[in-house]
Amino acid sequence: MADRVPSGPEGVPFLGSSLHYADDPLGFMERVADEYGDVARIDVYSQEVYQVTDPDAIRRVLVTNAENYKKPSLGGDEGLGGLLGDGLLTSNGAHWQRQRKVMQPSFFGDKLDDYADIIVRDSETLADSWYDGKHVDIHREMSELTLRIVVESLLGARIDGMERTIREALLEVGERFRPGPQGFVPEEIPTPRNVRYRRSVEILDRILRDIRRQHEVHGEADDLLGKLLGEEESGMLGKEQVRNEMMTMLLAGHDTTALTLTYAWYLLATHPEAKNRFHDELDSVVDGSPTVADLAELDFLEQVVMETMRLYPPAYVIYRQAENEDTLAGFHIPADTVVAAPQWVVHRDGRFFDDPEAFRPERWTTEFRRELPDFAYFPFGGGPRKCIGDGFAMREAKLVLATLGTQFDFELVSDAPLSLVPFVTIHPENPVEMTVRAR
Ligand code: HEM
Repeated sequence: MADRVPSGPEGVPFLGSSLHYADDPLGFMERVADEYGDVARIDVYSQEVYQVTDPDAIRRVLVTNAENYKKPSLGGDEGLGGLLGDGLLTSNGAHWQRQRKVMQPSFFGDKLDDYADIIVRDSETLADSWYDGKHVDIHREMSELTLRIVVESLLGARIDGMERTIREALLEVGERFRPGPQGFVPEEIPTPRNVRYRRSVEILDRILRDIRRQHEVHGEADDLLGKLLGEEESGMLGKEQVRNEMMTMLLAGHDTTALTLTYAWYLLATHPEAKNRFHDELDSVVDGSPTVADLAELDFLEQVVMETMRLYPPAYVIYRQAENEDTLAGFHIPADTVVAAPQWVVHRDGRFFDDPEAFRPERWTTEFRRELPDFAYFPFGGGPRKCIGDGFAMREAKLVLATLGTQFDFELVSDAPLSLVPFVTIHPENPVEMTVRAR
C-alpha cells in the first residue's frame, strides 16, 4: 500500500496556523493530535512541520533511523543556533560527535558523586537563608540554585552575587523565543525586544569571560571547562567554540532542572496526600544531609520527579529534519521535512497513561515502567542526541528536593492556576510564589 499523506489544519494564506499556534502552542499541538492523528501536517511561521505522536515513529526518528534525522536550524542564525553556535545542543555531524566524546566523561561515574556534594551543600546554603513564613518565588530560587550548581560543578567557578543578573539576562534571552505571530525578527532590526536580547547576550558573554578567568587561576584540569580549555590549548577548539559550549552548559544545564523542581514543588503543594507521603519517606530514610546512598531508598521521591516531568516536560517538543524521504507510521515523509515530536502531547495521551491529566506519582511502579511503550515517555529525548545531562539532572532534582523537603514545607500563596508559556522550554508565565514553612 502506498504511504499516506498526512492531513492537518488548513490555516490561512501566508500565516498558516501561526496565529492559532502563537495563541496557545500547547493546546494547539494537542488539538492537532486529537483531530488529525499521530502524523499531522501543520504550517507555522512559513515552515511546514509534521507533528508525530506515535511512540514507534518517534523511536524511528530519534533512534533507529537517527542517521536520517538531523537537528534543524529553526530560525537559522536568528534561532537558538545564533546564541549557542556550534555548542553541543545545536551542532551536527563530525564536530558534534567529537564534542560529545570529549564532554561525555564529565557526566558519568565518580564525577556524578562529586557533584552530589556540591548539590547538597548549595541547597543547604539556600535553606540557611530561609525562615518560617518567608515568601519566595520558587521558580527564581530554583533557577538561581541550579545556576550555582552547574557553574560550580562543570565550569569550576563561583558566581556568588551574580545569580540574579545571569537569570534575568537568560530570561530576556528566552523572551526572543516566546511564540508570537511574527516569528523571529532578524537581530539587526532594533525592536525593543531585540535590543534587550543583544544587551543580555553581552552581559552573559561578560560573565562567561569572568568564569573562564576564574578557572584559569584556580580551576581543575579535569572538570568540564578544564577539558575544553585543554582542547583549546592543543588547537582542537577555537576560543569561540569554548564560549559556545560554556553558553550551552549555562542554559541547558540549569533551566530544565530548575523547571522540574519548580513544577515538583507546585504539584506537591497542590496534592497534600502526595506531599505527606513525600515527607514521610524523607523522614524515614534521611538522617541529617541526604546522600547518594539514600536516593536508592527514596522510591516515592523518584516517582514524584518522573510524574512531574510527565505532566510538565521542561523540553516539550523535539525537532528534527529528514535528510531523505522516509515512512513514519504509514505516512510519507518527504526529504527535508521538519518533524516535531511533542513530549507535551504524548505524555498526556490516554492510550498510555490512565487519567492522564492527574498527578499520580504512584503510577510509576516497576511493572508500569516495563509495560510502557518506548517513547511514550521521553523527557530527555533519546538515541545519540539524548540529553547528556540526564543522570546529572535526575540526581540533582532528587537531592535538591530531599535537602529542602526534609527541612521545609511550601504553601502556594495564590490558588490561581499555573499559566505556562513555551519558550525553548515551558516556563511559568508568572512568579510561582510560595510561603516557606519550617517542618
Ligand atoms: C530535567 C532536566 C533536563 C531535561 C528535561 C533535559 C532535556 C533534554 C532533551 C529533551 C534533550 C534532547 C534534545 C533533542 O534531542 O533535540 C537534551 C539535550 C541536551 N541536554 Fe538536557 N535536559 C535536562 C538537564 C540537562 C542538564 C543538567 C544538562 C547539563 C548539565 C543538560 C545538557 C544537555 C545538552 C548539552 C544536550 C545536547 C546533547 C547532544 O545533542 O548531544 N541537560 N536535554
